Amino acid sequence: MMSVVGTTEMMSAPMTLSQQDQWKKAAAEAAAKLVESGMVVGLGTGSTAAFLIAALARRVEEENLRIVGIPTSEGTAAQARALNIPLTTFAEHTEIDLTIDGADEVMLGPLYLIKGHGGALLREKIVAAASKRMAVIADETKIVERLGSLVTLPVEVVPYGWQATQKKLIQLEGKPAMRLGADKKPYITDGGHYILDCAFGPMEDPKEIAHHLDHVVGVVEHGLFLKYASEAFIGGAAGVKVSKRES
Ligand code: A5P
Repeated sequence: MMSVVGTTEMMSAPMTLSQQDQWKKAAAEAAAKLVESGMVVGLGTGSTAAFLIAALARRVEEENLRIVGIPTSEGTAAQARALNIPLTTFAEHTEIDLTIDGADEVMLGPLYLIKGHGGALLREKIVAAASKRMAVIADETKIVERLGSLVTLPVEVVPYGWQATQKKLIQLEGKPAMRLGADKKPYITDGGHYILDCAFGPMEDPKEIAHHLDHVVGVVEHGLFLKYASEAFIGGAAGVKVSKRES
């Protein structure tokens, strides 16, 4: 099922944003309307999620929206704190009402996702798995027929013995490459791990790849999100299309 919302927001977006950023912003602002007072909200990570957090902060201030957020990264936590969105932790809430997060690729229909190019996939998956409902926000350039068509698959690994873990990923034909930071040293996640970006190419059977990765010792998590998103808000030239999971 698909519907179109949010065209007005897109047309009124500031001209300083690129077209893609306007689409991201429109998707984020449309999804922000799902949030209701009293909710525990999972707050995603990335440039699209940053628009969401800004939109929620406006609702908190202007509409007295009363929510608590669980951030999926230190960066998101810092943005939410700076904008006065109250935060909570899993110590207080083990169940999340609604999570809204970005994605690197979206496969419409089953709403399979690749996530983790912002480096936050482990916390993002923990938050998604604890959520009753997850909405993904993205621009239309991220829609794919097959996962792995546009981007590599991030795989988060423990630094200890990472070379042995990498060897297993090579055996799975993942062509892993160590993600590097700006300093050319291995990128370190919020959890203190490395990320090996795996070039599986367009995936015929993402479930099978996920199954294999789930059983590699040393892999903490991977960026295949195959059972979490219940709806997608996709910003594009025609407005924001809302697409429910078909399963
Ligand atoms: C963060 O680890 C990712 O999963 C992001 O959600 C994803 O990379 C999308 O990022 P952008 O919204 O910046 O494209």
